[in-house]
Amino acid sequence: MTVPESSADSAANAAGLAISLSLIPHADEQLCLTLRIRNLTATTLSDWNLQLDFPSAAQAGSGTEMSHRAGSHITLTPSPDADLGAGAEAELRMLVDAAFIQRYHDLPQGIFLYAGGEALSVDVVERNIDAALPPVSAEEQASEGPRRDDSAIATEAIVPRPLHCESNGSRFHCPRVLLYDPSEPAEEAIRWLQLNLPLQLQPAADSAGAATLQFQVDESMDDEAYHLRIHSAGISVAAASRAGFLYAAVSLTQLFPPDGELKLPLPGVDIRDKPRFGYRGLLLDCSRHFHSKQTILKLLELMALYKLNHLHWHLTDDEGWRLPVSAYPQLTAVGAWRGLGEALEPQFGSGPERYGGCYSHADIREIVNRAAQLSITLVPEVDVPGHSRAAIKSLPELLVESADRSDYCTAQQYTDNVLNPALRETYTFMYAVIDQLCELFPGALIHMGGDEVPAGAWRDSPACRRLASREGYRDCAALQGHLLRAAQAHLAGRGRQMAVWEEAAAGEGLSPESAVVHAWTDPGAGIRLANAGYQVVLCPAQYTYLDQAWSRCPQEPGASWAGTTDLEHCYRYEPFHEALNESGRQRVMGIQAALWSERIASRETLEYMAFPRLLAVAETAWSQANNKSWHHFQGRLGTHEKLLDRRDVNYRGTKPKPG
Ligand code: ACM
Repeated sequence: MTVPESSADSAANAAGLAISLSLIPHADEQLCLTLRIRNLTATTLSDWNLQLDFPSAAQAGSGTEMSHRAGSHITLTPSPDADLGAGAEAELRMLVDAAFIQRYHDLPQGIFLYAGGEALSVDVVERNIDAALPPVSAEEQASEGPRRDDSAIATEAIVPRPLHCESNGSRFHCPRVLLYDPSEPAEEAIRWLQLNLPLQLQPAADSAGAATLQFQVDESMDDEAYHLRIHSAGISVAAASRAGFLYAAVSLTQLFPPDGELKLPLPGVDIRDKPRFGYRGLLLDCSRHFHSKQTILKLLELMALYKLNHLHWHLTDDEGWRLPVSAYPQLTAVGAWRGLGEALEPQFGSGPERYGGCYSHADIREIVNRAAQLSITLVPEVDVPGHSRAAIKSLPELLVESADRSDYCTAQQYTDNVLNPALRETYTFMYAVIDQLCELFPGALIHMGGDEVPAGAWRDSPACRRLASREGYRDCAALQGHLLRAAQAHLAGRGRQMAVWEEAAAGEGLSPESAVVHAWTDPGAGIRLANAGYQVVLCPAQYTYLDQAWSRCPQEPGASWAGTTDLEHCYRYEPFHEALNESGRQRVMGIQAALWSERIASRETLEYMAFPRLLAVAETAWSQANNKSWHHFQGRLGTHEKLLDRRDVNYRGTKPKPG
């Protein structure tokens, strides 16, 4: 089927550059993507090329040369070179594996034409691609199916599901004003209730007996546990910590009708609750796309609503460096920006204009402080030695060995993004970055990356050869280990523990006691590492990467290299596996969802990808396995959609939004 984009677009294009995309099968499981460009201007374009972003491997098709590629950014040039006359057409072609284009969102983004030293906008006016996309069954089209709505049974509405939740038969005729007894560890809980309850809260004059909302410190309880009772005389909460009180407050607000209307009386209930895992995380990638401080502050509130307690903040990557480091202002002056004429090319649809940004130290402190109030710990990540192109382009004289002829290509199509572990300057740089992180982030864990160093990195680096021969290193993993062990020692000197991605634990890389490992490549990876003695956070991409598309429907946004992940699939993830031994179990710290941002450019898309799947991850992280039920969870969703509506969250409903 040929899909005109919109008649308004077509009209707007009458005097511009129009492009039609068509996709047809090619040999060997490949597709040929043809980009037909029509010059509807009155000017002949000479020496022109077409630039676009496509994140997967691709080759030039006939009549086309791929004259430049850096990451997702590709430059296609007509071959042989030819002018594009006024009123004329030209066709460029790309060949890609069929697996890389399965939905509309897999098509190239950020397309513009470059001629005469200028970027000229093009309008995609037609997409003729549907016939080449994989067929999608009616069942998949219908999405996740009907939901049971039990929201009337308020005591069952809490997500994540509490350990014990019993009706106690009483009723509380809740007054419009609740009197509470001020209690220091309950400070944030009280603030939460003031913001989220359809009631007024006022401190009780003096005697605790007069309070209808009582907070009691019980040091015998586990750190994040709470006991919440609604009974005929009022509401009482016991906990040992600020987190416990906050979680009680969160549960209490979920017991009130989500539309904000107070229906009296409240049914009496007794909730005794504590988490299955101490680490319940969410990764947010702010490099591939820059997310504002406001977006992050809102996300923190939503994390607290679902009792998540670690925000893994991916601050640097090939496409942008977001952390100002006082010793190296170039990192953000240069590396925070991409666009035509910048050191970093446009990527992931960001287009020819200057795009990017960084967080000021004041922004970071505000985020850290708000997170702490919400019992959320920031785990900042600076990803080394791979994924370091933004740093390398910012500080080339420091970080590049001029004699290094190593030839490699990363999964993200970079050939120049790996720090060299044999240069003294790499360490000077890394220690300055670590010192900056330690100054800004008070949490115990600092994440140093360690993922996806490509085969061939350092192979033709004279400095690496000398280092390997001096130390007896035989492979890439050993060289990476050399760098990361230095990072670990530097962090330990500052009282911090290093976290890394699972690749860092390979070979002779890092000993089990030296780092917390985030295991992402498959559900078994973390199990093997835990059995081998590492402390692990489980984040298998197949279940917890929320940047992956929900379904194969053509209009569904997201990536799909780890498969598609609908709500039920996400919910059914069980971290413990029969292969996990008893001591391995003790080393599973928890689980973490991820919002990688290659395809998440806005708050709306971020929320669409995160919700409601983040509720499923949160329940797996908090609730005991035998207390989970997909059927029951579905029944609670209606309530939570209303809660999310009240918070203006752009969650995914039962169908994909056209996109
Ligand atoms: C990762 O997804 N590369 C950690």
